[in-house]
Amino acid sequence: MPFGVPFGVYVHIPFCASRCDYCDFATWTDRDHLIDDYVSACVTDLARRRASGLPIATSVFFGGGTPSLLAAEQLTRILDAIERADGAEVTVECNPDSVDAAKLGAYRRAGVDRLSFGVQSMVPHVLASLGRTHDPANVRRAVDLARDAGFARVSVDLIYGTPGESPDDWQRSLDGALALGVDHVSAYALTVEPATALGRQVAAGAPAPDDDLQADAYLRADTVFAAAGLDWYEISNWARPGEACRHNELYWTGGQYVGIGCAAHGHTGGRRWWNVRTPERYIAAISGDTPAVAGSEVLDPEMRAEENFSLALRMRTGAVAGARSAAVVSELAEQGLLERGRLEGDGERIVLTRRGRLLASDLTARLLLAGAASPDSAPAPGHPPSLALGTIEC
Ligand SMILES: C[S@@+](CC[C@H](N)C(=O)[O-])C[C@H]1O[C@@H](n2cnc3c(N)ncnc32)[C@H](O)[C@@H]1O
Ligand code: SF4
Repeated sequence: MPFGVPFGVYVHIPFCASRCDYCDFATWTDRDHLIDDYVSACVTDLARRRASGLPIATSVFFGGGTPSLLAAEQLTRILDAIERADGAEVTVECNPDSVDAAKLGAYRRAGVDRLSFGVQSMVPHVLASLGRTHDPANVRRAVDLARDAGFARVSVDLIYGTPGESPDDWQRSLDGALALGVDHVSAYALTVEPATALGRQVAAGAPAPDDDLQADAYLRADTVFAAAGLDWYEISNWARPGEACRHNELYWTGGQYVGIGCAAHGHTGGRRWWNVRTPERYIAAISGDTPAVAGSEVLDPEMRAEENFSLALRMRTGAVAGARSAAVVSELAEQGLLERGRLEGDGERIVLTRRGRLLASDLTARLLLAGAASPDSAPAPGHPPSLALGTIEC
């Protein structure tokens, strides 16, 4: 089937070998006995959705949790149940600890073409502070195995601003990640979630991440990645040309996708919806032939425009700001926080500068207050404008 209108399938795998201290995702460490039934439920959910007209997927994303905790046959069973366009992007999030040559080879043969490793840091004491179980040698081993299995597209996730991480530690992680030869990096500021081990430690008086150090770490990452040929395309994401994650671009441009599995979200027909949160409830709903969808909402046009604007402003392709906000746009441009640019065949767009990206939330709020959001403030759903066509310099 040829590549058509972008449509994504997200599959949530809610199992991990151990819980990292900072992580508040919907994942469990004591429910491996459910994995087989969970995989079957995902396959049934997909079969039912296909029977009622699920579009052909142009991207599939296995996220978690730790999708690589599944046996290769289990993940392949789910993937085989998804009708995909030729050239569809298929990403699997992997923990460096839970991959081996046989598993990665099976993924590749099944049609997976992109791996995203949760690396977080290349420095042992920082990994230990985060409660991670792998070490930098495991990361190198995992990426080598991926290359041997034929994966050209490999991404890593990094976290910056862990208390105790020095600027030199962060530089070592940046250098270490680039030395892996990856074409895509996601880097996130460590966020303290209250219901995590880290959240409880901080509540009890342990040091929290320092805002200024996190800002420095972000700027350093942006400089190092850009020098290595990985340009930012979303505030927390950098890639070589053509290597942006198409599935995530779908989220950021208001595209359509279904969520399979517990706690997964979908966006179809103008409605956002989400599934029941736990694997038990998901399995029970699917095997009882009742909906796994726990709730849904339709955004009114104003909320949708604001959301589109906010997401678009996080991207290098930028957002279209409504005329009412012209004075604020000029003021922020004069302060060096945003630039005006133009994409071929498109109107004027505003794009955050590096310094602007550090203040993205505040700037978005200011612009929204000034009436910047308009229905045309984002690219057409599911069609991110091509950066290759862009003339924006920032
Ligand atoms: C749900 S995890 C899946 C990846 C995989 N389970 C792993 O960690 O190896 C996706 C990414 O979210 C990021 N993340 C999760 N919790 C975070 C937090 N509290 N602060 C910053 N980044 C976080 C991590 O970089 C992680 O790799
Ligand atoms: S960060 Fe990844 S491996 Fe760690 S608990 Fe969260 S989902 Fe699991």
